[in-house]
Amino acid sequence: VMRAALGRLGIPCPRNLVVESPEEVGAFGLPCVLKTTRGGYDGKGVWFVTSQAEADEVFEQATSTGAQILAEELVDFRRELSALVARSPSGQVAAWPVVASEQRDGVCREVIAPAPDLDPDLAVEAQQIAMTIAGELGVVGVLAVELFETSDGRVLVNELAMRPHNTGHWTQDGSVTSQFENHLRAVLDLPLGSPDARVPWTVMVNILGTDARGELFDGYPHALARDPRLKVHLYGKAVRPGRKVGHVNAYGDDLEDCLERARHAAAWFAGELGDESE
Ligand SMILES: Nc1ncnc2c1ncn2[C@@H]1O[C@H](COP(=O)(O)OP(=O)(O)OP(=O)(O)O)[C@@H](O)[C@H]1O
Ligand SMILES: [Mg+2]
Repeated sequence: VMRAALGRLGIPCPRNLVVESPEEVGAFGLPCVLKTTRGGYDGKGVWFVTSQAEADEVFEQATSTGAQILAEELVDFRRELSALVARSPSGQVAAWPVVASEQRDGVCREVIAPAPDLDPDLAVEAQQIAMTIAGELGVVGVLAVELFETSDGRVLVNELAMRPHNTGHWTQDGSVTSQFENHLRAVLDLPLGSPDARVPWTVMVNILGTDARGELFDGYPHALARDPRLKVHLYGKAVRPGRKVGHVNAYGDDLEDCLERARHAAAWFAGELGDESE
């Protein structure tokens, strides 16, 4: 449904087709990406298939759930971008700077705001795509548009999230108005706040649960003492391996410094640094 709507709006997307059988996957072209049309998140419900045998296997698994399968071309991308906007019922739209997100095994690991060295024309195109979708579909609140920046310099829409999104968590500390605040302003049809960045760089790194640290709060003393400019957001969820249980934001004038600080803090909270305290 999403792909069809984007197609009608003329938004650039990966080549795609709803496939009814493994044979249709072969006809669509391998390698490709298969996606269940319902219930997927964090890479669950996304399969990279390179052979007919793999396509057969995915069909067996996925069709037992009753969901349809969408085949997509395997996009040769340089990196993944996200264009975040908020729209109010009156039609006001605020567009945050376009960010780069790094996904590992289908899970968002870190976000850099703004996307380093992004061609300004491509940044504007990404923002325009997000504003067009929000306007045409009558979105109220935050819309995140996940994009591929292709190796040959285009942007293609990966998927839409009509809600505050992981790639917008940096806005809590790095922009004048966070995605959560503008989401509420939009729902209340109040004037939206400025989406401008407060600082040159903000890096968000997700804290994923591990077996190493059962109690995340133990991470606070070291993390806060080491970096007085760090912002920590823990969700109060039970820690399970691979589960998103919090994130940290580090902001400042120097990207490398922000990356180091945010990565260190997230690894520390996850218990990945052992007893090492530097
Ligand atoms: N057509 C494609 N070509 C290449 N890589 C892809 C393609 N579609 C998805 N991917 C990769 O798989 C990841 C997960 O896919 P997608 O965002 O569609 O699924 P998801 O599990 O619903 O994610 P989310 O948790 O963001 O909702 C993407 O971030 C991207 O890295
Ligand atoms: Mg996604």
